[in-house]
Amino acid sequence: MSQRVLEVTDLKKHFPIRGGLFGSTIGYVYAVDGVSFHIDKGETLSLVGESGCGKSTVGKAVLRLFPLTSGQVVLNGQRIDDMSAGALRPLRRQIQVVFQDPFSSLNPRMKVRDILAEPIRNFGLARSEAEVDEKVGSLMDKVRLPRDAVNRWPHEFSGGQRQRICIARALAAEPDVIVCDEAVSALDVSVKAQIVNLLQDLQSELGLAMLFISHDLAIVEHMTHRVAVMYLGQIVEVAERRALFGAPRHPYTEALLSAVPIPEPGAARERIVLQGDVPSPIKPPPGCRFHTRCPYSMERCRKEAPRLRDDGTGHLAACHLHDLPAAENPLLNKAPPTAFRAA
Ligand SMILES: Nc1ncnc2c1ncn2[C@@H]1O[C@H](COP(=O)(O)OP(=O)(O)O)[C@@H](O)[C@H]1O
Ligand SMILES: [Mg+2]
Repeated sequence: MSQRVLEVTDLKKHFPIRGGLFGSTIGYVYAVDGVSFHIDKGETLSLVGESGCGKSTVGKAVLRLFPLTSGQVVLNGQRIDDMSAGALRPLRRQIQVVFQDPFSSLNPRMKVRDILAEPIRNFGLARSEAEVDEKVGSLMDKVRLPRDAVNRWPHEFSGGQRQRICIARALAAEPDVIVCDEAVSALDVSVKAQIVNLLQDLQSELGLAMLFISHDLAIVEHMTHRVAVMYLGQIVEVAERRALFGAPRHPYTEALLSAVPIPEPGAARERIVLQGDVPSPIKPPPGCRFHTRCPYSMERCRKEAPRLRDDGTGHLAACHLHDLPAAENPLLNKAPPTAFRAA
C-alpha cells in the first residue's frame, strides 16, 4: 500500500484585516478556505492557479510557518496543526522548503559548507565533524555541484547554482516532504528546465513526497504525478496529470490549459479568454466562486457552491455541469486540448 506522508483536511487560513480607529478587525482575507489533499511517499502533487489564489499560503500552512484558522495537517501520521512550537521543532526535519528567490534565501555571510552543515548539526544527523563533511560532499554530488565549491560564498554562484544550493540545504535535513514554492519561476528558461529535471530526479531517487507550487502549468506538465488546481482559496479540480491535461473537468482548468503554449506549430487550439478579474478574496462571490468568470455559468452556480466530487476514477472536480446529462455537459463534448497531451 502507498504510504501517506502528508494529509491536509479542510484547511483554512483567514488573515484578519485591521482597520478602524482602534485597529479592530474589520474583515478577513479568505486566502485559503477549505482545502483538502494528500501526498504519498514518492509522489509529486502540483498546486497550480493564478497569482493570489492562496498557493503560498497553503505551503506556509503545511510548513506551520503561522497558526492555522482551522483544519488538520497530518505529517507522517502525526497531527501538526495544533502542535506547540516546542513539540514541532524535532518534526521540522521531516518537511523542508525551497522558495522562489535563491538570492535572498541564502545567508550571504555563510560559506556553502556552513549553509549545508547547519541543518545536519541542528537535527543531530552526524556523529562527527568528519561525517558532517562527508554528508556535505554527498549533498553537493546530489545537486550536481563540484565538491570543492563548498568553500565559496553564495554571491559567487549563478541563480541556477544557488537554487541547487537551496535544494541541497533542504535535502540536508533528510526530509520526507519537500515544498517547492515557485522554485524555478525566477530562473531563465534553460536553467528552469535543468532545475526541474534535477528536482524530478531527486524526488524519485530519494522517494520524496513533493508539493510543487507553481503558477506555470507548462512546467508542471512534465514533472508531476497529480495536479490540484486552486481558485480563490479553494481547490476546484484534482487529477492524475494525464487526466487533467487531457480531459479537464473544471471550466477554470480548461481555460488555464487553453493558455498554455503548444510546442507543435501546426496544432491549433481554441484559446479561452476569461472575462473580468479574479474577485477579491475579501469578499468571494456566493455560490460557485468561479461563476462570475465562467463561460458556462448557470442559475444554480450563482447560489449553490459545488462540492469537490470524484468521477469514480480518482478525478475530482467541483462543478455543477457534471450533474447535467452527459450529452449536455459542454466539458465532456470537446476534443482533448491537444493530441500530444494524451501521448
Ligand atoms: N500575511 C498576509 N496577510 C494578509 N493577507 C495575505 C497574507 N499573505 C497572503 N495574503 C493574501 O492572501 C491571498 C493569497 O496569497 P498567496 O497565498 O500568496 O497566493 P499565491 O501564492 O497563490 O499567489 C492574497 O490575496 C494575498 O494578498
Ligand atoms: Mg505564491
